[in-house]
Amino acid sequence: MTDIDAIPAPPDAGSRAAQELPFATPGGVSRMVNAAVAAPSVHNTQPWRFRRVDDATMELYADLDRLLAVTDPMGRGLGISCGAALFNLRLAIRMTGHEARVKALPDPARRPDLLATVHAAPGDPPDQDERLLYDMIPHRRTNRFPFDGRRLPRDVFVDLVHAAYAEGATLVLVKGRTARRVLDMVGAAEGTLAAENSYRAELACWTDPGRRFDGVPGHAVGPRPRNGELPMRDFGLGGARPSADFEVDPQIGALFTRGDGPLDWLRAGQALQRVLLAATAHGVAASMFSQPLDLRPAQHRGDQAGPLGHVQMLARFGYGSPARRVPRRSVFEVLDPVEVPRG
Ligand SMILES: Cc1cc2nc3c(=O)[nH]c(=O)nc-3n(C[C@H](O)[C@H](O)[C@H](O)COP(=O)(O)O)c2cc1C
Repeated sequence: MTDIDAIPAPPDAGSRAAQELPFATPGGVSRMVNAAVAAPSVHNTQPWRFRRVDDATMELYADLDRLLAVTDPMGRGLGISCGAALFNLRLAIRMTGHEARVKALPDPARRPDLLATVHAAPGDPPDQDERLLYDMIPHRRTNRFPFDGRRLPRDVFVDLVHAAYAEGATLVLVKGRTARRVLDMVGAAEGTLAAENSYRAELACWTDPGRRFDGVPGHAVGPRPRNGELPMRDFGLGGARPSADFEVDPQIGALFTRGDGPLDWLRAGQALQRVLLAATAHGVAASMFSQPLDLRPAQHRGDQAGPLGHVQMLARFGYGSPARRVPRRSVFEVLDPVEVPRG
């Protein structure tokens, strides 16, 4: 199992290790991949694979065996998850003083599963913001527990909006009646999904997986909202868990991209992760709602984009008790083994 709390600190700027190409040593490869796999993923499926090409280049692949065939047949959730991992990988490369040059979907006709080639080119040392975001990687968690109702200060929310913008996406905060309407829509989607046997069966494969190092463990699901005030995904646990009061006036962010194809999903994932790391740096917790998006392939094919584009994720922000970490598969399970350099 990957100990994401133990992602080693980057080498000191100016040291020999800091000049080293990121994938030149087993230690470097492991630091890069450990950072990438700490990303959030739909149902913690961790639908990624990595292949080291040379000392400066890594490829990121979609692991199609981990695609959620019922709720994510087009691979939107998979693409967003891999985009989040890609953002972490880019940050980890920046910590070595290299620029991370990304070619997204370099060969879509022949290798649609090859999502990105990431090449480390000579660059400037990382700036303070990049260091801060990198430091937050092991601390970011999905928090499905009640928040205390405190509002995010305006400057904090502005920072999150900038984080999304920097990655080519748009983040909008919805509050009050609009937030309630959005949550009603999420609740309706949760109800529709929960009535489908195929959805429940797929979810069961990824819930409380016991000794596996993927899926969502019971401890991470959180309590059932007592008055049904928040449509938290219940991961099939239903009434089996305790109930609690959640915040009455939730703060919801909606993340948009202009288009709605594989490149946009990768972009959304990078933006999502940048937003979540920036939130973590401000002590702000977050959980996600993607139930309406799970229904989209069936119900919204050919959707026209709204003025801001297509919604790719809904997130709930606030302040709460720390959530526990959920497991990750080890570097060796996600990395093409023959490509690990000799130490
Ligand atoms: C594309 C995507 C969709 C997600 N949808 C939901 C969701 O609907 N409900 C939820 O509680 N968590 C959702 N999550 C959060 C994942 O379940 C979570 O990232 C995963 O279990 C790993 O846990 P961690 O974020 O604490 O590392 C989603 C994450 C991603 C990347």
